[in-house]
Formats: sequence, C-alpha cells, structure tokens
Amino acid sequence: MKKRPSVTVAAVHAKALETEALSAISSAETLDELDAARIRYLGRKSELKQALRDVRDRETGMSLNAVRERLEQAVEQRRTALERVELDRRLAEGAVDVTLPGTPVSRGHLHLITQIRREVEDIFLGLGYEVVDGREIETPRYLFDALNMPPTHVTRSPLHTLYLSDKLVLRTETSPAQIHAMEKRDPPVYMVSLGRVYRRDTIDPTHYPIFHQVEGLAVDRGITLADLKGTLRLLLRRLFGEDVEARIRTSFFPFTEPSVEADVSCFVCDKRGCRVCKYEGWIEVGGAGMVDPNVLEFVGYGPEQVSGFAFGWGLERIAQIRHNVPDIRELWSGDLRVTRQF
Ligand code: PHE
Repeated sequence: MKKRPSVTVAAVHAKALETEALSAISSAETLDELDAARIRYLGRKSELKQALRDVRDRETGMSLNAVRERLEQAVEQRRTALERVELDRRLAEGAVDVTLPGTPVSRGHLHLITQIRREVEDIFLGLGYEVVDGREIETPRYLFDALNMPPTHVTRSPLHTLYLSDKLVLRTETSPAQIHAMEKRDPPVYMVSLGRVYRRDTIDPTHYPIFHQVEGLAVDRGITLADLKGTLRLLLRRLFGEDVEARIRTSFFPFTEPSVEADVSCFVCDKRGCRVCKYEGWIEVGGAGMVDPNVLEFVGYGPEQVSGFAFGWGLERIAQIRHNVPDIRELWSGDLRVTRQF
C-alpha cells in the first residue's frame, strides 16, 4: 500500500509544485513549449493528477483542485499571450509599409498622330467647321469619278491604288469625304475630315503606304482664293508657330482649279538642302485649291451660285516637321523610345 503524505506535507509540496509549474508555464516561449509544460504538470500522468486520484480527505482535495484550476488558468492565459505574439509576428511579416514608394505604373498617352488629329479638329471646330467621318473603303465613283478624274487617270492604276475588288478600293486620299459631305447637305458647307489613306508608295523617309490626311472643305457664296490662303496661313501658324516659313506655289489636282501646294522650310536642313527634302530646302505639307466646277456639279451644287476651296494635308508630315522626326517609319515603329517622346 502506498504511503500517503500527511495533509501539511502534501500542502507544502503542492505549493512548491505550483510555483515550479507556474514558472514553467510563464517561461514557455512557444505554443509547443507551453503544451509540454501543460502535459508535464496537468497531464494524466502528472504528479498533480496522480495526487488528485490518491487524495482521501476533502481539504487536501479542495486545495489540490484549487492548484489545478490556477494552473489551468495560467496555461490559458499564456496560450492567449503566445497566440497574440504569433499573430503579431505574422501580421508584421505580411504588413505593407504604406510610406514606401510604390512600384511605378507607367501611364500611356495618345500617339503623336492622334494628338495632332485632335489639335487640327479643335482648330477647325473653333472656326465653325464640322468634323465628319469618311470611309476608308471607297468605290471608284467617289474616289475617281466624282473628283473629276478621267477614265485614263494614272491614280486609277492598280500600281498606285490598292483595289479590294473591281468595285472597292482603299482610298488614296481623304478627298471623297468632300463629296459625301456635299451630297448630304445644301451649301454652305464648312467641314474637315481626318483619317487614314492608302497608297502603293515606295517607302522612304517621308513616304509610307498608310498615312493620315486632314481634308478641309468650305463652300459658300463668294469664297475666293484669298479665303483659302488666309485659312492655310492660319493653320500653318497654329501648327508651327508664328514664325513658320511657308510658301504657296501653283500645282495641279483634277478636282481643284486653280490648285496650289503649301510647303514649309525643311525641318532637317533649314533650306540648305538635304536627303529628307530631296535637296529642295522645302517640304510639302499638302495640296489645296478652289473646288472645280465639275465637282460642284457632280453633287448638284450650282457653280454659278457657290464656290469653294478644299485642302488635303498629311498629318505625318505635320508631325515630322514640327517634332523633327527624320524618318516617317519611326512614327509607326511602335518603339516606346520614340512614342514616349511626344
Ligand atoms: N487629295 C490631295 C492629295 O492627296 C490633296 C488635296 C486635297 C488637294 C484637296 C486639293 C484639294 O494629294
């Protein structure tokens, strides 16, 4: 038979055991260590549980149970504390320092040609013009016949124009937009139309088979060449600044009479002559002229009542001249080092 300790001895021993257990519990640094201490002092095989099983008197039983309760409480408190520490550690690990600079997200912007397109539209909206859409796919009737080109005209050749079929062509100029605009309205007409055009051109620093034009048209009573000159000069000044050097010289287009061409001084050599301007010193920005009476008649306008002017300029030319882009291909390279500059 086991020797049972007397009450006082048991009480003194229980006190020592509690002190030891409390210190083990409070010094547990991890949940695992805490669990080990719990098993050691409160587990089934622990001294305390053993003593509780063996106890025979009520007083000892009560005091041992009180020790057990205090130890269990201490374990729970320590567990809560350790869990807190663990949570804080994990939060700190995954925390975001909002004061650190973020990863830069680069913002896109409009392509230079789109910027110029909007700028030109704004200039003409300010003058009271309408901005109208054109068609990139045209019929020979609108691209050639309406624009006063005889059946033998060189632009009709598949060497110059991209035919989708006998009846459909990719427009080589925005001028058919003039016809559509006049067919839809009675005079007066003041409109601009901007968009892509397609040509079977040989690629060089200033030519590319796809490019953009701005078409302008003003038809009203008493429009003269002076109105055209004034409008072109205004456009040149707005696009290139007050001191732009420009000249207007005579030219030929089937749908204007008289016809002119506007040049600005070469953006590369400043009129000294170079490869880009083909040693002319000047670069053509586009054509213009007084709307041919045949065109007015085609859309049912009376050439005796109204007259008009029209112009068609290349947006890539404008971009190249204004921003010193030596080669048109750079504008379509998709190279961010180029596009980011504008
Ligand atoms: N369409 C002509 C071209 O592409 C330009 C132009 C437009 C000329 C309007 C006169 C009038 O070259």
